[in-house]
Amino acid sequence: MQYITLNNDVKMPAEGLGTFLMSPADAEMATLNALRAGFRHIDTANGYYNEAGVARGIRRSGVPREQIFVSTKLWPSGYIRAAEHIDKTLARMSLDYIDMLILHQPCGDYLAAWKAMEEAYKAGKIRALGLSNFPEEKIAEVIEAAEVKPQLVTVENHPYHPNDALREYLAQYGIVIEAWYPLGHGDASLREEPVFAKLAEKYGKSPVQVILRWHIQKGNSIIPGSKSPAHLADNLDIFDFALTDDEMAEIAKLSEPGKTYYSADESVYEKYLSIPDDFDVQEDKYQEELKAEILAASDEYWKAQFDLDVEQLRRVCDPKAPFVHMGITMDRGAEEEAIAQKHIVTVKRDDKHVDVRVIDDEIAIILRQLELTALVGGNEAINPFVATETYHRQADGSWKLISFVYTHIIPDNYQFRFLSK
Ligand SMILES: NC(=O)c1ccc[n+]([C@@H]2O[C@H](COP(=O)([O-])OP(=O)(O)OC[C@H]3O[C@@H](n4cnc5c(N)ncnc54)[C@H](OP(=O)(O)O)[C@@H]3O)[C@@H](O)[C@H]2O)c1
Repeated sequence: MQYITLNNDVKMPAEGLGTFLMSPADAEMATLNALRAGFRHIDTANGYYNEAGVARGIRRSGVPREQIFVSTKLWPSGYIRAAEHIDKTLARMSLDYIDMLILHQPCGDYLAAWKAMEEAYKAGKIRALGLSNFPEEKIAEVIEAAEVKPQLVTVENHPYHPNDALREYLAQYGIVIEAWYPLGHGDASLREEPVFAKLAEKYGKSPVQVILRWHIQKGNSIIPGSKSPAHLADNLDIFDFALTDDEMAEIAKLSEPGKTYYSADESVYEKYLSIPDDFDVQEDKYQEELKAEILAASDEYWKAQFDLDVEQLRRVCDPKAPFVHMGITMDRGAEEEAIAQKHIVTVKRDDKHVDVRVIDDEIAIILRQLELTALVGGNEAINPFVATETYHRQADGSWKLISFVYTHIIPDNYQFRFLSK
């Protein structure tokens, strides 16, 4: 990995992962896969509603925090409460500091937000400051007012729209350009330009790798987005070849004034400012979805019991899972055998209360208070239990049962009810 030294001497990996438009679950997996592939820089934003997902990916990777450059952005409707949003962002991501904090859009009270970012910078909560989508005159306004000058400006940037004038302007302050949409937001017509096919063949690389290499040689920081582990690996494999000056000039011919994928005017900014600054909303929704996913895994397990389906049981249970039936512990083989021999015939589950807890994003516990109707010695028996199911998240994101415990509860006023078959 190549590093860029920012104008405050902080080192930033020149390439990072972009997470725009990723759900919290996708951002978590993409972050995890990117860190596994060797990425050490991840870009997110309050307005992507996936910061907690990125943070889970970071924690799950086991890569030490100080090796990862975390970049996020404040949304304009939060600028007037920027200090509060910086602290909320740190809490949302369970971080002590953010490596790069960026003002996402050039609208709202960005000068007040910049002041709050400077305070947080001085307090050690942020290591570097940036602006996103700011035109030159507004960058000049911030530089003029700033005590801490920006380290980075991120803008739409790709071979159709290389932003050379802005790059020249920023160079006098040692401010780095970070390219968002470095691959034209995945536009096939950009990567299918003949010049990239020709250079890809010459260097034994893909057209996408040639585009990313072009950015690096322009001095851009890049944050290509990808959910594909294969693309992530390819996107990092761009530091072992170099385009010649003539080849860089040939690519420069693709530049066309105004050829961008995004533009914004005052009406767009008004819309941005009207977005409520509650950036935990999506996370609440994600937690609900996660619980639903775990309960669905549990339903699969119970279905195997009801259907006496040993194959299904094997699919949903870890091979080492223990099953504790009122004090008797069985391994999975014994449980399968008991089911196959119809020693355990579960007829009906009547839940009285269900609680789901997720621990460290990896372990889920379902606590179920229930009445179970089962066939015992030819009779139907209804018994009250507390069932504790523990699930472990697999590398592919699915959940497997790793232990199951029935605890027989006998409330004082409870009468066993044996029903004749
Ligand atoms: N500051 C801002 O206002 C702003 C605005 C927009 C974006 N951004 C940042 O910039 C990042 C990048 O933007 P983006 O993700 O929208 O666009 P992008 O990086 O230009 O393109 C991403 C697209 O390219 C595909 N791709 C990636 N690597 C590839 C490969 N090796 N081969 C073929 N296809 C490949 C991805 O699909 P796969 O998933 O299949 O790989 C995805 O569809 C964002 O994620 C975000 O962090 C910032």
